Amino acid sequence: MNIALSVLVNKLNGLTPETAIVLGSGLGSLVDELRDTVRIPYGDLEGFPHSGVSGHAAEVVAGHLGNTPVLMLSGRAHYYEKGNAAVMREPLETLHGLGIKRLILTNAAGSLREDMPPGSVMQITDHINFSGTNPLFGEPSDRRFVGLTNAYDEEMRTEMSAAAKAAGVDLHQGVYMWFSGPSFETPAEIRMARTFGADAVGMSTVPEVILARFLGLRVAAASVVTNLAAGMSGDEISHDETKEMAPKGGQRLASVLRQMLST
Ligand code: HPA
Repeated sequence: MNIALSVLVNKLNGLTPETAIVLGSGLGSLVDELRDTVRIPYGDLEGFPHSGVSGHAAEVVAGHLGNTPVLMLSGRAHYYEKGNAAVMREPLETLHGLGIKRLILTNAAGSLREDMPPGSVMQITDHINFSGTNPLFGEPSDRRFVGLTNAYDEEMRTEMSAAAKAAGVDLHQGVYMWFSGPSFETPAEIRMARTFGADAVGMSTVPEVILARFLGLRVAAASVVTNLAAGMSGDEISHDETKEMAPKGGQRLASVLRQMLST
């Protein structure tokens, strides 16, 4: 058993969540949805990232959402921090070792659709890896040839859509395109992304989806729209805007996840 896993097992004290959620920029307040929480700083978990991105905490928070035991990763590391696309591999392997079966990934994203303004929530139905990298570079086994035809689990997508309906939240659906960051896109890149079939752009999530599928976890993902993408409004895009807007749509996403996991 790896060291992080034995620390987690010990701290969770018999709690056996099968669902984990990764919280994106500005979405950390989702942990407030949990009851009977146990908090474990990433610093106590070997192989977990020391995220240096403001708006991201760095802790595992476990507890109950409704009656369901859930584990949240509050804070992720990104490819753009150190150029390592596999930076979330050890945390995800640890979750897998813990018995997590379902992974819900959340992020803040820029929207390519006028009908999906800031504050909207979009379920990710598919993705485009536009980074040129892959978290499985260097993986020697044939398991690296992961199929991604059904990367976003159909049953979990249906559950999330039904939960949104019950919660009265308008849940958009769309394709998320991964740009490496950390600079934002140019208007020309956004026009290209739209031509390629993207509905939203962002700097995370896709490597985690690839790693999770590699590990056999079932995956669902959702974006909170924090801005219209570059060139769509007159404004410059900023991380401050992401941090300010994410909690607004984050409330909507929180009510979807609460509904999804408590039923
Ligand atoms: N582009 C990339 N990542 C983002 C954006 C964006 O416009 N907004 C929030 N994260």
